[in-house]
Parts: sequence; structure tokens; C-alpha cells
Amino acid sequence: MNKTIYKRLLEYFKEHKSRFITAVLCMAGVSALNGMVRLLIKPMIDKVFIQKDAGTLSLIVIAIPSIYLLLGVLNYAKNYLMSYIAQKITLQIRNEAYSHLQFLSMRFHTSGSTGRVVARLTNDISFLQTALNKIPATAVLDVLTVMVLMGIMFYLNWKFALVSLVAFPVASIPIIKFTRKMRDLSRHGQKQMAEIYKHLGESLGAINITKAFNREKTEIGRFSRANRDFYELVIRFVKTEALSSPIMEFLGALAIALVLFFAAKEVIGGYWSAGSFFAFFGAAFSIYQPLRNFAQFNPQLQQALSASERIFEILEEKPEIIEMPGAQPVTDFKKSITFDGVGFRYNQGQSVLKDVSFEIKKGEIVALVGPSGSGKTTIAHLLLRFYNPSSGKICLDGEDITRYTSASLRELMGVVTQEPVLFNESVLYNISYGKENATEEEIINAATIAHCHPFITKMPGGYNTVVGERGVLLSGGEKQRIAIARAIIKDPKILILDEATSALDAESEKQVQAALEKVMEGRTTVIIAHRLATVKKANKIVVLEKGSIVDAGTHEELFKKEGLYRRLHQLQII
Ligand SMILES: Nc1ncnc2c1ncn2[C@@H]1O[C@H](COP(=O)(O)OP(=O)(O)OP(=O)(O)O)[C@@H](O)[C@H]1O
Ligand SMILES: [Mg+2]
Repeated sequence: MNKTIYKRLLEYFKEHKSRFITAVLCMAGVSALNGMVRLLIKPMIDKVFIQKDAGTLSLIVIAIPSIYLLLGVLNYAKNYLMSYIAQKITLQIRNEAYSHLQFLSMRFHTSGSTGRVVARLTNDISFLQTALNKIPATAVLDVLTVMVLMGIMFYLNWKFALVSLVAFPVASIPIIKFTRKMRDLSRHGQKQMAEIYKHLGESLGAINITKAFNREKTEIGRFSRANRDFYELVIRFVKTEALSSPIMEFLGALAIALVLFFAAKEVIGGYWSAGSFFAFFGAAFSIYQPLRNFAQFNPQLQQALSASERIFEILEEKPEIIEMPGAQPVTDFKKSITFDGVGFRYNQGQSVLKDVSFEIKKGEIVALVGPSGSGKTTIAHLLLRFYNPSSGKICLDGEDITRYTSASLRELMGVVTQEPVLFNESVLYNISYGKENATEEEIINAATIAHCHPFITKMPGGYNTVVGERGVLLSGGEKQRIAIARAIIKDPKILILDEATSALDAESEKQVQAALEKVMEGRTTVIIAHRLATVKKANKIVVLEKGSIVDAGTHEELFKKEGLYRRLHQLQII
């Protein structure tokens, strides 16, 4: 698994190859210059202090600021380039993930939790971003620095250098153990963060219900539990991380003390120059910081890998509705749509539709009626090809709809959903959502037909009034009428109205009804209606019960029978 993640991440890096190579060259320069600074200690002590050589002193005085000036430039370039690459890659991944989400099937969106997806798009991506910045820096800069410093140590005294070399692997043993623990904790932490996101989105979205039922305390309790669990995980992570450094430090100090003991003896005995001694230990101490970075390298890498794994999981999620090879766009709708023995279940659960067969002829109004949960909205979902039937097929002019591209199929249809959903944008934006590049005239025309023009013009911002999240700033009826205008502006061949008039009062219902009748003229309409007026006008009424068609016919035909239709009528459900 890790291998494929590396591969995928490398793919993203490829685009920035030249920048990355430049950054690596800068890093090489930085480590070389750092080595030079350490080496300067030797002539400083041996030549300047012991031999009192003024010429060397002036050279060193010139060398130090020059080296640091160059170091500054290279460090700046490397930091800029690495951040640039990290930002560009995460920008691309974020866009890719979002576009992919847009095309995933309804089943994914209704079964998963939005919070989890949001956590992946925010938290996980920011983890990845930090890691993309730091990991190459450690992998390249710190490795090179350690190599340069080790080189200097070998050059100054290979025996002591060898002894120090043995000490490093010993010091890294505990690190491996820490890493594993940190990786697990990080995984749990991410999951917990997703819980928090989920809770936030869900509970703040339903704040009116919370308030109405006086359940603020319950929500606060639920949130603080999730929050505390996250805190505890983070603290455990921090403890483990904080412990790994001192242990490394202590082991390093032991090794240095040991070498120091023998090295000082050599200097006192006159076998080694004081300049070499100080330069050697200068290098040995400087190795400590890059090594410490190594200690954090693996946990950081693991965190980044598990974050990438979760992001790539979204990218790998396959849409359920895939186009058949050679799928053609629908060019026209001529005769009819038929449901042919359609069976459907949402998940592994119960059948929601069983052997449903009926025909929607072009130009007809077909009404779907039945008790709540009988599968009316589900039929609309299948028509829009949000899902594929589990058995049977749906045909358009005799051709299975799966042979057509879903986009062209949906292009034929205009839909008003059971719960109108609006975007937190202007009225204008929401209506023109039905038709790209709609003119102002078309928008006002659609609004007039849907009977929204009068109330829109009364609003302070008119058509530019922003409707609030999910349209909260509008009344239920207003929302519904805007949703109708949005469907009308599309001028669809097939209109699907799911209880489109349920949120309207008697007066506006009458108006919308009249408007809808006008819109329905010459159009094929599937209407899921509870109102007698609409149902009566339908050319065909399909009566559903528990996912099966129990009857079908005109109002007169069905009313004569002592069936479900008449019962629903008497109960005033229709
Ligand atoms: N996304 C979903 N996942 C799983 N089950 C679902 C889903 N949507 C609906 N169902 C189930 O499918 C059945 C039919 O639902 P559907 O929404 O089609 O009913 P309906 O006839 O439109 O009812 P209503 O008149 O109340 O709107 C119900 O039992 C419902 O619980
Ligand atoms: Mg419904």
C-alpha cells in the first residue's frame, strides 16, 4: 500500500522536477557551507590563537560574513521553492478531490458522512502540505549535512569518527519503537477530528431543532465528549513525541562524553592539535540537530502517508453510475419512458421497489400516489439515474437508459425535489442554476411563471437578495417557488415534480397550480402529488404501496374501485 502512495505522490512531484532539483542544489550548497563554517574553527585556533598569524585572521574575518550571506540566499531559495511545490501539489490534490466528489454517485454521498469527507479535504491535506515541505528538507538537507559533517570528522580524526559512527545506530533503536506508537495515535487522532467535523456540520445545521427541544446541553455534552477524546489522543501523541527527543539527546551525550575523554587525552599528550579537537567537536555537536530531525522524520512521514492514504481513498472511490462503453447522448425524446420490472434496494437492506412496470407517454401527466415510504421519490431518483435499478430496466423510446450518457439524460429533465434545496447565493443565481448563461429576461420570465416575481421584487435586494444557507431566509413556500422557477428556466422535456406544492398556502398553491399547468402543457410530467387537483388532471395515476404498483388508471377509474386510491382519498392523503 505504502509503495503505491509513494508512487502517486511522486507523480505529483514530477511536474515540479526542475524546481525540486534547484531546491536540492540549494540544499547541497547549504550543507557544504555549514561544513565550511565548522572547519574554520581549526585555522582560527591553530593559526590565529596559537601561531598568532594576523593574515589568517583577516581571511577568516572576510570569509565568515561572505559564507553567511551565501547561506542566507540559498536558504531563502530552498525554503521558497519547497513551499511553492508543497502548496501547488496540495492545491492540485484539493481540486482533484473536490471534482471527483462532484461526480461520485448518490450512494456515496448519502451513505458516507460529510464530516469525514470535510476532514479529509481540510485536515489531512494540511498534514500533507506540512510534510511535503519538511520531508524532502530532512531527507536531502539533513542527510547531506550529516554526510558533510561526518566527512569533516573523518578528515580530522578517523578513529574518533568511527567510534561516533557506531554510537548513532544505537541511539536510533528507541526511535523505531516510538514511531510505531505515534503512527497509531495519529491515525486515531485523525478519525476523532473527523468526528468533530461531522458533529459540527450536523448539529449547527439543525440548531433550530436543538433550540426548540431545549437540547443545547445534550449537544454541548456530545461535542465536548468528542473534543475531549481528541484532546486525549493529541496529548498521548505529544508525550510520545516529546519523549523521543530527550532519549536521543541523552544517548548522544553519552557517546560524546566517551569520545571526549579519549580525545582530550590525545590533545594533552600533544598528538592532536587543539584546533582539530574543537573543529571535531563542533562538527559532532552540529550533527545532533539533523539527527534529531531524523527522529521526527519517520513519524512525520507516517502521518503524511496515512493522510495521503485517506485522501487517495476518496480519489479512488469509483462512481457507481458509470457510462457504458460507447454511451451516446440522447438526441430526442419521441414516444415514451417505460419502467420494465424494476426492482431496487438502496443498500443491502430491504427492497424499496418490487417489479415496478409502467409507461410514461410523451406529453402525458403521470401521477405517482401512495402512502409515505411507498417508493415515490425513489422512482424519481431512478428516472434521474442517481442509481441503477437492482433488477429490470428503464427505457427511453425503447432503449435502456444506461446506453445513454447520464448528463444528456438529465439534460432532458427538470426536477423540483421534495425538500427544496437552495444555495446560499442570490435569488438570481439560484434561478439561473437551471440554465447556464440565462438572460435576465429569461430569469424574470421563469420567476413570473412560478409566481415568485412579486415577492422577489419586494425583497430589499430584489433579485440580488442572498437567500441564506439552504434558503433559510425565505419561507417554505417561497423556497419552493424559486425551486420551481429553477426547473422551469431549463425548459425541460420531462418535468419531475416531487410534492412540489406541499409547502404552499391555499392561495399561492392555486397560483402555482395554474402556473404549473401552463408549464406542463406539451411537456411530459411525472408528478408525485398529494393534492386532488393535480392528481385528477393526470392522464394516468400509478398507485404504489410498499414498493409495488397496486393499481393504475385515471381518477374516475380508480375512484370507482374500493381500492387503496379511494382509501387514500377518504383519509385525505391525496
Ligand atoms: N438514501 C436512502 N438510503 C436507504 N434507504 C432509503 C433512502 N432513501 C429512501 N429510503 C427508503 O426507501 C423507502 C422509500 O422511500 P421514498 O423516499 O421513495 O418514499 P416516498 O414514497 O417518497 O415517501 P414520502 O411520501 O414520505 O416522500 C423508504 O422505506 C425509505 O426509508
Ligand atoms: Mg418522497
